[in-house]
Amino acid sequence: MAGKRVAVVTGANKGIGFGIMKELCAKFDGIVYLTSRDEGRGLAAVKNLNEAGHQAQYHQLDIDNIESIKKFAEYIKTKYGGFDVLVNNAAIAYKNAATEPFGEQAENTIRVNVIGTLNACRELFPLLRPGARVVNISSSCGHLLRINGSEPAASALRKKFASPTLTEDEIVSLVNQFVEAAKAGDWQEKGWPNSTYVVSKVAVSALTRVQQRAFDADPRKDIVVNNCHPGYVDTDMTSHKGPLTIEQGAVCPSYLALLPPDVKDLRGAYLWYDKQVVDWENGPTPSVV
Ligand SMILES: NC(=O)c1ccc[n+]([C@@H]2O[C@H](COP(=O)([O-])OP(=O)(O)OC[C@H]3O[C@@H](n4cnc5c(N)ncnc54)[C@H](OP(=O)(O)O)[C@@H]3O)[C@@H](O)[C@H]2O)c1
Repeated sequence: MAGKRVAVVTGANKGIGFGIMKELCAKFDGIVYLTSRDEGRGLAAVKNLNEAGHQAQYHQLDIDNIESIKKFAEYIKTKYGGFDVLVNNAAIAYKNAATEPFGEQAENTIRVNVIGTLNACRELFPLLRPGARVVNISSSCGHLLRINGSEPAASALRKKFASPTLTEDEIVSLVNQFVEAAKAGDWQEKGWPNSTYVVSKVAVSALTRVQQRAFDADPRKDIVVNNCHPGYVDTDMTSHKGPLTIEQGAVCPSYLALLPPDVKDLRGAYLWYDKQVVDWENGPTPSVV
């Protein structure tokens, strides 16, 4: 099956990821893989899609498990030789009412949302074909100005995340420093915000810029990565408080996944659910919906 165009969505068994699956199944010129950490939930979602007339394929993928990531990468490599679209959608968020200690929330949120996403990218990016499109699902919470702990420490952190020479390893070091501070109880003095989810999404948005710089220097032509806030969406993550449907939440991620060849302006960009480009470093941010 080498040569067939292939798209992959992580955490796609429900919510916005499932909405993205519907869009890609309808519009992507190739095979679309629904992946999920739980095989039963993933296969049930594929059944739903296929009953609705779509043609989705399935593979297990837990971004929090390096063996699972490697197994999936090997499967794609062996079966197709490479692939064309990756939507990094999988993530977790603790509820406001969660009772776990802040340090524990920080460790788990950073491990899945940042390290898991980074590990998936590190294993899968070598398989991207020229012209590939990558979409990192960030959030309104991923805007740099959301790093708003005590000053001047917060502005020093913002400067580091926004550095044009930032590296993946420096992002990992920054988020590890956050986890340590969260456990020690002095995260605010050190400039970090009161939300582990915010830190994880700022890191994902910063990562997008670092990744695009690497793609710009890659011999494979025209590989593009962008990130977006999908809107405030009616999903389990928001306890169904978001006003947007999963189909509306899928609009911007799918648009970025299907960008035409030779994109010049949308490279490492941060977009809002309505497709407008937002200045990630300086804001202002549009309404949160
Ligand atoms: N909903 C919003 O308003 C909103 C706003 C801004 C950004 N976002 C972002 O949009 C994306 C989707 O959110 P959502 O609202 O659709 O959330 P959701 O309904 O909670 O769905 C999250 C998906 O990620 C999966 N997942 C979690 N950990 C995973 C792992 N280790 N490996 C693979 N999959 C994993 C979940 O699988 P299980 O079913 O197994 O748990 C689920 O399929 C996330 O990146 C989120 O941060 C959402």
